[in-house]
Amino acid sequence: MLSVAIDGPAGSGKSTVARTLAGELGLRYLDTGAMYRALTWQALERGLDLRDERALVILLGELRFALVCGSCLTLNGEPLSEEIRSPHVNQEVSRVAEFSSVRKLMVAKQQEIATGGGIVMEGRDIGTEVMPDAPIKIFLDADHEERARRRLIELQARGHTAPLTDVARQIQERDNKDSTRLASPLRKAADAVTIDCTLLSPDQVVQAIIKIVAQQANASL
Ligand code: DC
Repeated sequence: MLSVAIDGPAGSGKSTVARTLAGELGLRYLDTGAMYRALTWQALERGLDLRDERALVILLGELRFALVCGSCLTLNGEPLSEEIRSPHVNQEVSRVAEFSSVRKLMVAKQQEIATGGGIVMEGRDIGTEVMPDAPIKIFLDADHEERARRRLIELQARGHTAPLTDVARQIQERDNKDSTRLASPLRKAADAVTIDCTLLSPDQVVQAIIKIVAQQANASL
């Protein structure tokens, strides 16, 4: 079964593209960022010290993630709370995602979900760590300003608001943390195709990926 890995920085539009692509190709869909967010949210709820790597790994060990109906990610049997997208979680999640033992366990959980293929997975290390053998790898990028604008629209749709300059600064900080951390930093896999989607609609990006999937399928005939 086909597996598609989509990586890229915050606000590049990965989620919309990956979800739509999965729908069009009849594949499952997993947003791996939601799993790091869920861990961060749970750690905050329980008052854990977010610098305590060991406590975070123990907590993660207690979290059971599953994909229901192909695209609904559940945590311990319940759909994920909208709280995982709150400004507080936004602010703290990259420091949680920085710990190598947290990543190791998270990647194992993601690989378990990916077993059998037939999935579109999006994140930062899918093409490099989680599904290094995926036949289709996409690196989605967009201008920093455009990504901030998209992230603000996303926040507003969830009832939060912030000045665009703050969102841009937060995105910049998160990009820096995500791409400079020691444990599997955000980077393009050597065999990934880069799509710059600054001037493209999500649907145009989806169609571009479907074309790549078709080309690959023809090439392997
Ligand atoms: O894609 P997102 O903004 O929801 O991701 C939330 C955070 O999780 C972000 O700081 C990057 C991190 N992340 C990661 O390190 N590896 C992944 N595969 C997915 C997300």
